[in-house]
Amino acid sequence: MALVIDGKKISNEIKDELKLKVEKMKEEGKQVTLAVVLVGDDPASKVYVANKKKACEYIGIRSLSYELPEQTSQAELLALVEKLNNDTDVNGILVQLPLPAHIDEEAVLAAISPAKDVDGFHPMNVGKLSIGQKGMVSCTPAGVIELLKRSGIGIEGKECVIIGRSNIVGKPMALLMLKENATVTVCHSRTKNLKEVAKRADILIVAMGKPRFVNKEYVKEGAVVIDVGIHRDENNKLCGDVDYNDVVDHVSAITPVPGGVGPMTIAMLMKNCVESV
Ligand code: GUN
Repeated sequence: MALVIDGKKISNEIKDELKLKVEKMKEEGKQVTLAVVLVGDDPASKVYVANKKKACEYIGIRSLSYELPEQTSQAELLALVEKLNNDTDVNGILVQLPLPAHIDEEAVLAAISPAKDVDGFHPMNVGKLSIGQKGMVSCTPAGVIELLKRSGIGIEGKECVIIGRSNIVGKPMALLMLKENATVTVCHSRTKNLKEVAKRADILIVAMGKPRFVNKEYVKEGAVVIDVGIHRDENNKLCGDVDYNDVVDHVSAITPVPGGVGPMTIAMLMKNCVESV
């Protein structure tokens, strides 16, 4: 029987630990403040932002909300980021992505002070991760490491295959697994013989953005499968990049969708906020 990794439960444990930490910080006169910036009306982004604010409330982090219209110019957004950078009461700044097409996302992310970059997207933090220095780490890959560790799954010396090379998940995921002493392979849309490569994995991490793509032909018997994807299928049911029902009897551990990696992203965002103080 596969271990079904309960990301909801593990993320709740982390949030409870953070809540205690924030209570202690308050006794010492320290307040944690996250500024959340949302531009436009993307419905998915609105849900994500609402969930982030809810998590802040639970833990005792003060959240400041900036909801700007779709037509906001890049200069106006950069001016807000600059104001938040200079506000000593603000510890973390999160600009929800995607931004409207007329705004240069890279320019905005690079404008956030690296010390307040709780998403871990600033080139300085990405660079620090790549040379093993302490900095803010992208929340989803950091959440995957926490899920593995808290589920008692050893990483050192394991063959880890990551499918997907995005800046937000695939690349930082590879660096974090390397830091944990795994042997890491990163696959992408041009990888030849993807099935054969994926089948080498003791730990297979899938972040390719294709609903139910990975079936048991991609998975070694007894592997650990981490599914970072989230989609709605033709019946409006949530599913991941992995065909869960096809692989579940074939693996030693697996994350479900929903309730696997998803809740960990917010928990790690909260951790970055608390650690930014
Ligand atoms: N949009 C989708 N995921 C994320 C995330 O983790 N951070 C931000 N800022 N925007 C997102």
